[in-house]
Amino acid sequence: MKRKSFYVLFVALLLIVLGACSNSSSSDDGGESASGDGKIELFSWWTAGGEADGLDALIEQFKEEHPDIEVENAAVAGGAGTNAKAVLANRMQGGDPPSTFQVHGGDELLAGWVAADKMQPLNDLYEENNWSEVFPQELIDMVSKDDNIYAVPVDIHRGNVVFFNSKVFEDNGIEAPTTWDEFLDVADQLESNGVTPLALGDKNVWPATMIFENILLANLGADDFDKLWDGEIGFDDERVVQSAETFKEVLNYVNDDHSARAWQDASQLVSDGEAAMNIMGDWANGYYLSQDLKPNEDYGWAATPGSEGTFMVITDTFGLPKDINNEDQVKEFLTVLGSKEGQDAFNPMKGSIPARTDTDLSNYGEYATDTIKDFKDASLVASLAHGSAAPEQVVTQVNQAVNIFVTQKDVDQFTTSLQDAVDAGTE
Ligand code: GAL
Repeated sequence: MKRKSFYVLFVALLLIVLGACSNSSSSDDGGESASGDGKIELFSWWTAGGEADGLDALIEQFKEEHPDIEVENAAVAGGAGTNAKAVLANRMQGGDPPSTFQVHGGDELLAGWVAADKMQPLNDLYEENNWSEVFPQELIDMVSKDDNIYAVPVDIHRGNVVFFNSKVFEDNGIEAPTTWDEFLDVADQLESNGVTPLALGDKNVWPATMIFENILLANLGADDFDKLWDGEIGFDDERVVQSAETFKEVLNYVNDDHSARAWQDASQLVSDGEAAMNIMGDWANGYYLSQDLKPNEDYGWAATPGSEGTFMVITDTFGLPKDINNEDQVKEFLTVLGSKEGQDAFNPMKGSIPARTDTDLSNYGEYATDTIKDFKDASLVASLAHGSAAPEQVVTQVNQAVNIFVTQKDVDQFTTSLQDAVDAGTE
């Protein structure tokens, strides 16, 4: 409870600060905001290869079913919402919410916009569409609070995947490492053969945070990983310190220009064969597919070292903000987004698996077939880097700590900053 009230306060302050820094964020023509114009303003950060294709396919599907309703694609570039989240906060503060917006299930939605009283429940839509029968309960829990359901999940991404260039692996006679020790051995070998072992693009820091959270997951397991963000396990835990040490070593094997690259530029190093591996959510699968790479031929994948049997869940969801003028139209859009047709248009291009459990699997490729099976069998755990495991303020502070660690590599300072981040969020 304490953490919740703190977070509401934090969101309120953030909104005030952002509001003060900006002019009114309503539309440029000085008229009504897009959400009141009789069109749907669809807000996301999907602009890269794969993710943009999935979004276009979803919009097309909607247009086919509702040719009379206009959709404006209001995506703001920047992986993981680096820029979009700030624009969104600004607009919410200015009383100009988009008609509907991308938000991760878990704390980003619940401790963020729901706690700030900015969202409307969608229980009626769930009943009409029988969604409680078709979405996994774990996902419904990630978008529910106090018996109200606040968003519709469009996908399930996996955050603990290592993608690799198949030819580079074959040429070097290696296989996907199953432990971090093995990873370091393989990395050594690759490096002495003149190949960059691990592609990283941490121009925005979150891809580095993903590497670290994957090491933590391997060392702690799903349950204890979760406890870390709830403040039940401290960052002085031996396994955490060990994870920081391993992270430090792993960083020795990344491309020199990592801080100049975005996530998709790092994925590109693997497609080009300049780097062997990339630890990324499976939107990278969508990226490779958008480049016509063949799964299991041009690129392969595995659970990140030590995380076999767990599934780090990242779910993109959309809800119904308060204070919009076109609720009925937005509900039509959410209905398509949650339908089999909508999910089957979107996910095969996005690289993700459908949130629904009853879609037409013939639409999906080899990667998704594997991943759907893994999702059913694995222990599920929420991602910190993508805002599900802890409130946004904690995520921001963790990202700052990682950013400093990547250059300074001071384990003590790092674990202390991480503890401070979680303490601030749980006070
Ligand atoms: C994640 C999001 C994914 C993908 C990725 C890179 O946060 O859940 O859908 O968009 O960022 O942009």
